[in-house]
Amino acid sequence: MTPEKLVALALEARERAYTPYSGFAVGAALLCADGSVYQGCNIENAAFGPTVCAERVAVFKAVSEGKRDFAAIAVAGGRAGQDVTGLFPPCGVCRQVLREFCGLDFPLYLVKENGSYETHSLGELLPFSFSRGDMS
Ligand code: THU
Repeated sequence: MTPEKLVALALEARERAYTPYSGFAVGAALLCADGSVYQGCNIENAAFGPTVCAERVAVFKAVSEGKRDFAAIAVAGGRAGQDVTGLFPPCGVCRQVLREFCGLDFPLYLVKENGSYETHSLGELLPFSFSRGDMS
């Protein structure tokens, strides 16, 4: 699976975002080591607190289907109903959730305009992170 294909799947997932409150639509596509892909979109809630980010939806879908080895994730966000015009930095909670299952070299393809993307490692986005290894 090429990064470009994963980016296309993140953009596709973004179209299913449920964002009546923020109007900010995010899509994610998580590539597993076995080649399977899990998509996620953000899902908002009138009570605000139950809102879940696109990245976590993708990770939780994968883990609940028995997948724990991940190769990469593509993330695309921007105003709902409009094309993506620039990358946005995934939230800290999603970075920590990824860290649970992914090493510091895990690549994130952050989508910019017209399907272009920047690659950043999880270690770049979450330096000096706390993870399972720190509890041993
Ligand atoms: N959101 C994500 O889906 N991923 C992130 O990493 C940051 C924020 C969503 C949550 C909410 O529905 C909207 O974007 C505005 O915060």
